[in-house]
Amino acid sequence: MFSPSRVTVRVPATSANLGPGFDCLGLALKQHNIFEIQLLPGNVLDNPVPLIEISSTWGDDPAIAALPRDQRNLFYRVFCERLTALGIPVPAVHIRAGIGIPPGRGLGSSATAVVGGILAAEALAGRVHATYRRVDLLNVAVELEQGRHADNVAAALLGGLVVVAQSEQDDMWHAIQASIPAGLHAVVFVPVFSMDTISGRALLPHHYTRNHAVHNVGHVALLLAALASGDLQGIGSAMDDRMHEPYRAQIFPELPHLLLAARQAGAAGACLSGAGSAILALTSERAQEVAAALEQAAHSLGLDGRVLITDIDHHGATVEVDYPEQVREGYGDHQGSVAERVSILRVPGGAVQEITPKDVELMIATDSRFTLSCGNCEKHFPLTRTDYRCNCGQPLGIDHGNTGDEMDGQTWRQGFDERLHSLNPVDRSGVWRFRELLLPLPAITPITRPEGLTNLYPAGREWGSRGHSRIGDFVGLDRLWVKHEGENPTGSFKDRGMTVAVSVAKWLGATAVACASTGNTSASMAAYAAQADLHAIVLLPEGKVAAGKLAQAIAYGAEIRHVPGDFDRAMVDVERMCLDQGIYLLNSLNPFRLLGQQSLAFDILQQLQWDAPDWIALPAGNLGNTSALGMGLMCAYRLGMITRLPRIISIQAAGANPFYASYRDGFTGLHPVKAHTLATAINIGNPVSFQRARAVIRATRGIVAQVSDDEILCAKATIDCAGIGCEPASAASIAGLRQLTTQGIIHPSDRVVAILTGNLLKDPDAIMLARQVAFSAL
Ligand code: F0G
Repeated sequence: MFSPSRVTVRVPATSANLGPGFDCLGLALKQHNIFEIQLLPGNVLDNPVPLIEISSTWGDDPAIAALPRDQRNLFYRVFCERLTALGIPVPAVHIRAGIGIPPGRGLGSSATAVVGGILAAEALAGRVHATYRRVDLLNVAVELEQGRHADNVAAALLGGLVVVAQSEQDDMWHAIQASIPAGLHAVVFVPVFSMDTISGRALLPHHYTRNHAVHNVGHVALLLAALASGDLQGIGSAMDDRMHEPYRAQIFPELPHLLLAARQAGAAGACLSGAGSAILALTSERAQEVAAALEQAAHSLGLDGRVLITDIDHHGATVEVDYPEQVREGYGDHQGSVAERVSILRVPGGAVQEITPKDVELMIATDSRFTLSCGNCEKHFPLTRTDYRCNCGQPLGIDHGNTGDEMDGQTWRQGFDERLHSLNPVDRSGVWRFRELLLPLPAITPITRPEGLTNLYPAGREWGSRGHSRIGDFVGLDRLWVKHEGENPTGSFKDRGMTVAVSVAKWLGATAVACASTGNTSASMAAYAAQADLHAIVLLPEGKVAAGKLAQAIAYGAEIRHVPGDFDRAMVDVERMCLDQGIYLLNSLNPFRLLGQQSLAFDILQQLQWDAPDWIALPAGNLGNTSALGMGLMCAYRLGMITRLPRIISIQAAGANPFYASYRDGFTGLHPVKAHTLATAINIGNPVSFQRARAVIRATRGIVAQVSDDEILCAKATIDCAGIGCEPASAASIAGLRQLTTQGIIHPSDRVVAILTGNLLKDPDAIMLARQVAFSAL
């Protein structure tokens, strides 16, 4: 058991019913009540008097002014009741409530107090629940909620769109998250007057006709189906209700006019929010128009109120727990392990309590600010899930929330530049230097070499035509830089992702790790696993791995398993093996690898003194690196660290070109191919990160190109002769640039960075081959 010094719970507003889903549908919105509880020093009091401060962004709203600031406060009452149920004495506390949701408007204000009180008590008891386990708290919460609004409570706990019902068999409430299309906005009109839920309910009939019941059942089903399939047109008619809205309109006669105004302005659907008085309209593209129409209609009907445009909250309530200083130091500052540091924690009151490092780690792992998320169906999972595929089959990414938004781009740049002078390996690492934007989980201890200290060589014609500039001459570019990721500790860019993913593997308590690989991933994983004392298993396509890479994996002590087939087959096998045997998967399906690889973007930008290039070209196989580079660039752009977004050029070998083929056909889909190229690193026919890479190419207005094996070998011979050298796959970036410059797509004076992904020594057999091809091409 241990005590935090402060707990902060953010609970979303919720809109119940959505028209026909009377008492069974709830939708969480990005409008929050924030409850911050600070433990006051001193002994636990027998009869504690809380210190409660309430602030709000709603001016002198009478319903907020009327909120009790003593023991009668709902949040405080629930907090005390839950602590008592957990057998914990109620401590003296200072509560600060930031009210973003006015009470009495049908936006789930009391559900926020109940959910907030319960989660705060649970956190104080050292029980931080992963979102997927929150459903266990649903019945407790509904029980404590005065109006028994299970729909609001469930949506506030879980986030997103939630269906809830009570089973007669066990008397328990059951809740399931339902699908909702991405990009749907909510426009909410909040009248100044409130509507009392209890008396509102008195308006409803005790019995309904069969027609009305059938109407509502059908419309709820229609609504859920329309939302699940993204059919926005279908939502509008599906939101028609016969069970409560017509009766509530008796005391809110303007309601039909407001709903009509929202729909006419382009809302997909509109309804009374919960028991009112707020009105909820859903729209994907016409939020401004709908907001203006609601404002206008309210004005002409003589109604005072405020219109908000907001989004769906997919996370549900979040809990942030602060600990006394000793626990919060992090990032392996080499002054003692987490275990050593937490064991000296003193809780308020002076008692020394025992905390295990697992306690701290689990709390942070289950902190719902960071989740695994599916870009396809918008589902979220806790960080502790390790299969890294959504139920819909898509790879999971990491949802950082608004990581980085706390500072502006200039401040971030300055901070990262200052670290260049540090001798701390974690600051020096070209990955962990950018840790706050990559993996803001302070309890992680980095397993680092350090990596990412790779050179950016000026190689354009502007700097001559000999030496490194031979490459610019070959490509036809005046301002070209070559970023040599082959200078990483194990000779490839894979170390950037591996340092992060192996650190996470260790943190999650893994004992064995595995990957399928065309060679570089296995070499990198084997080295970092050895450093972290983890058993490493690599699945390699038999006879298709370059000699240098195989030698590395053997030398670093990995268990080698040869797969009779290609990389794509090995990829399928390793995923299954990891699932069946509980081994931690380290392929680029692992989103932490991609997080680490995002550092490449920040590193290049920093080396160019944050003056973004026009283009960045890189070779592409499984498409992890294309995705990661794009995500990093977009993050830098979003935070204002750069003022324009470089365009990405992703280059495939013609014999392994499914991404190029898809791009050429307008990205309609991906058709796997039987891969065959001598650039073995990118001999991949069914890339795992297709969807992410496609999003990145679209977002950066990027290009996908393909080059023949001969073009790759000629480019390699040039890079080798310039004294830089690389393995064949890496040379695809230079070969691709040459092609695009010749075609006039890239202008000779454009500022271009080419990434070399692997070291010359990885594939010694290709060296003579490249020279022969280059000579015969002369
Ligand atoms: N260049 C090199 C040298 C590689 O090793 C790889 C991938 C790539 C480019 C392509 O990067 O897959 O992220 O698009 N090598 C993986 C491996 C597949 O197993 O070593 P990607």
